[in-house]
Amino acid sequence: ASDSEIQLIKIHEYMTDLYHHILMHTKEGEEALKYLEDRGFTPEIIRKEKIGIAPDMRDFTKNALSDKGFSLELAFQAGIISRNEENFSYYDRFNGRIMIPIRNHQGYIVGYTARSVDGREPKYLNTPETSIFQKRRLLYNLSDARKDIRKQDEVILMEGHLDIVKVKMTSVGNVIGLMGTALSEQHIQSLNRLASNVTLMFDGDDAGQNAQLSLGADLLEAGLNVFVISMPKGMDPDEYIEKNGKVAFENLVKNEKRHYIHFKAEYLLEESMNNDMAFSNNIRTLTEHLKYVGDQVIKDRLIQHISQLYKVDRQSIEQNVPTPSYDHA
Ligand code: UTP
Ligand code: MN
Ligand code: MN
Ligand code: MN
Ligand code: MN
Repeated sequence: ASDSEIQLIKIHEYMTDLYHHILMHTKEGEEALKYLEDRGFTPEIIRKEKIGIAPDMRDFTKNALSDKGFSLELAFQAGIISRNEENFSYYDRFNGRIMIPIRNHQGYIVGYTARSVDGREPKYLNTPETSIFQKRRLLYNLSDARKDIRKQDEVILMEGHLDIVKVKMTSVGNVIGLMGTALSEQHIQSLNRLASNVTLMFDGDDAGQNAQLSLGADLLEAGLNVFVISMPKGMDPDEYIEKNGKVAFENLVKNEKRHYIHFKAEYLLEESMNNDMAFSNNIRTLTEHLKYVGDQVIKDRLIQHISQLYKVDRQSIEQNVPTPSYDHA
């Protein structure tokens, strides 16, 4: 890292400790701390993740940093304060928000996702793109999850940062997140280097389902084995754990992993039944996906499942599976 990048990280390390202190030990933090505890986040996990609160003030962060001798120009470059482009004055970017630190792949804090506590929009405000905070490169929680990912040869990908924080209170450790739902070329490369298996566990709403369908296809085509754990309707992993407990969640993760193609075949079935054009398009899509399944046993099982589900001859599916292209290997 360059000198200025080290300075940007120091700014984050300093403010993270301060935000965390305010959350845990001062009156300004009381409401947010209660909010987090009501959502099932324990003081231990809040401490471990160094979650904090940015006070609802215009100049708190700015003054704290300049009192400590940090350059405001650098703090602006860090994305932690904003600048009025008419008179070049600085002011706080984050007001009255719960600050969830985001670490880079080496474990240094490089930004935040910040949640409002009082219903203020947007619900989440993130650090803007900076030289150390690049959404297309960052995988949230990778520095903590790497060991478990390697050991299990599997990554579990989730939508929400607080989902991941909550899951870290269970025995499931190989969980990471994107910054938003865009999966970049760099993400795919990182994932490919980390593990052979990716499991998607997105929210049980339309947005989550659609993200799962589109990301899953990209990951499959990149040569990864892709699985899906479906959430009950309207729930995300955090809510699942709050409602059903850690053990139920751990069992879900252990026992309910369907192959992406299996998940998709079931998902697309309903619209295919009374719509012959959709039927033929969907069978074609599923068949095309099959060429990326390297494991012959799994491929066989998937073909059998699709043929039963869609009531088509398994040979007609087999014959149409395109020959594997080895450019992905
Ligand atoms: P969700 O709305 O599912 O958030 O968005 P969540 O994690 O369940 O939030 P809680 O439980 O209400 O606190 C999933 C992710 O999308 C991004 C955030 O990264 C969030 O974790 N997001 C969502 C934003 O960036 N901005 C938003 O306004 C909302
Ligand atoms: Mn969501
Ligand atoms: Mn959610
Ligand atoms: Mn949620
Ligand atoms: Mn099934």
